Amino acid sequence: MWVGRAALAAAVSNAGGLGMVTALTQPDPDALRREIKSCQELTDKPFGVNLTILPSIDPPPYAAYRQAIIDSGVRIVETAGSEPREHVEHFKSHGIKVIHKCTAVRHALSAERMGVDAVSIDGFECAGHPGEEDIPGLIMIPAAADKLSIPMLASGGFGDGRGLAAALVLGAEGINMGTRFCATVEAPLHQNFKQHMVDSDERSTDIIFRTYRNSARVSRNAISQEVLSIEGQGRPFADVAHLVKGARGLEGLISGNTDHGIWTAGQVMGLIHDIPTVAELMARIVADAEAIFTRRISGMLS
Ligand SMILES: Cc1cc2nc3c(=O)[nH]c(=O)nc-3n(C[C@H](O)[C@H](O)[C@H](O)COP(=O)(O)O)c2cc1C
Repeated sequence: MWVGRAALAAAVSNAGGLGMVTALTQPDPDALRREIKSCQELTDKPFGVNLTILPSIDPPPYAAYRQAIIDSGVRIVETAGSEPREHVEHFKSHGIKVIHKCTAVRHALSAERMGVDAVSIDGFECAGHPGEEDIPGLIMIPAAADKLSIPMLASGGFGDGRGLAAALVLGAEGINMGTRFCATVEAPLHQNFKQHMVDSDERSTDIIFRTYRNSARVSRNAISQEVLSIEGQGRPFADVAHLVKGARGLEGLISGNTDHGIWTAGQVMGLIHDIPTVAELMARIVADAEAIFTRRISGMLS
């Protein structure tokens, strides 16, 4: 949300990854059509669109967003959130490949039965919504690998070559990264946020909304602490709504005030020490993972 725009998605795809435009960052389906067109002008490589299905203060017109994605010729969609069936079936009926992102092995299996082409599984480390069961990737990824037949991406806490190597060893086909891509030259957010991620460590996040059973991992700041204090008093969501609304978060991202609203970030901030271009970051991750396999692992074997 807010960061998955054409420029960043195209940079990821041009560097050999699968960039994602996030549908709901755009205010309406026509704006999404324009954003997809911009991305198509910036890259001739495949990219995807994320459609997030989450409880929200005002539910968006999902069917119209889906139609914008289909009409624009996008070939890959990442769905995220609960009850994806209607969305998955619509996309699949148009031959679109669907990656469903989830936070539990049983949800991954249910998505597999639904006919998705791949899953992406977020461990507890992740930015955004980790679910309510607090299972870290070190357990979740191999547990899912034991049961799934379709390809799986490991998500949550990945930001360097060690993470990529670990994900492959645990049984994933690749990694999904959110927070790490936010601290790149191309990420469309104020420099203060990128620097804040460099200056933060692995303890710099809060889990808010736990008492509403809609946990969200965000960067710890004055607002996340205020939300936790209100939740700690057993008060309802209505009492925090003004603090957490998306428009407020966006104002902060634009003005550069990291304490203005809540903003999503994961524990992987503890592994972020610079602000490279996307191409530099991805080349480094792949090279470091290869070095681990060719030197460290092969050294162990000999
Ligand atoms: C700023 C930001 C916004 C995000 N917005 C969404 C979103 O709208 N929909 C979604 O499915 N995931 C969203 N995520 C979660 C990522 O897609 C991904 O699952 C997560 O970042 C992986 O964990 P990591 O940050 O440790 O890499 C967001 C993540 C970040 C950092």
